[in-house]
Amino acid sequence: MTEPKRILEVQTSYDAWSATYDSDANPTRDLATVALERQQFDFAGRDVLEIGCGTGRNTVWLAERARSVSALDFSEGMLERARARVTSETVSFARHDVREPWPAPDHRFDFVLETLVLEHIDELEPVFREAFRVLKPGGEFFLCELHPFRQLQGKQAEFTDPATGETVFVTAVVHSVADFVNSAIAAGFEIVRLDEWRAEDAPEMSVPRLFTLRGRRPHG
Ligand SMILES: C[S@@+](CC[C@H](N)C(=O)[O-])C[C@H]1O[C@@H](n2cnc3c(N)ncnc32)[C@H](O)[C@@H]1O
Repeated sequence: MTEPKRILEVQTSYDAWSATYDSDANPTRDLATVALERQQFDFAGRDVLEIGCGTGRNTVWLAERARSVSALDFSEGMLERARARVTSETVSFARHDVREPWPAPDHRFDFVLETLVLEHIDELEPVFREAFRVLKPGGEFFLCELHPFRQLQGKQAEFTDPATGETVFVTAVVHSVADFVNSAIAAGFEIVRLDEWRAEDAPEMSVPRLFTLRGRRPHG
């Protein structure tokens, strides 16, 4: 008889995964890095909010480019790694569940950015509404998520629990690309760009691994 799939609640999962998250082989994580770096954003002189910063993989890169970076995550295990990795005075970390109102005033940031977080969040609209609220007019959001086509093929964030050696699946929800786009529009954003990402050696017409979405808070 096959063992039932072990699915763990999100925060507990990332606390457990934090010890090996950076060292595990993870093509999805690595492709998300490529997808962010290829955007050619100009962060110079800009204030960035990163939600679901995890171990600070993006944060350290952003810190070298932006005027300031504020980074939120609700896993203390992940945040501990991020704080050890990024010590710049222009970066601040806070433990926060991004399903709750964000700890930032209106119009505080030029960019809101996230990679590989929203698959763990049931309701997208409150997230986009908060992003819209904290962005300055003309400010942009960028997100990079596991492509729902892959989720429909049964893919889900998973790791080997270092404490037990068991394979653990992290609780996830499937949102269609249309859900993302329409939630962003409902919050008031203009859509700037939507892209699909495959590993470099994947066939051109294979199921994409990731998608990225960019939007702008209109002026006025
Ligand atoms: C797959 S990791 C991605 C981390 C980082 N963005 C990266 O690309 O390496 C997902 C992260 O989202 C965080 N996360 C998930 N749900 C969250 C929530 N509701 N509030 C805050 N952080 C959350 C997790 O704790 C974890 O650090």
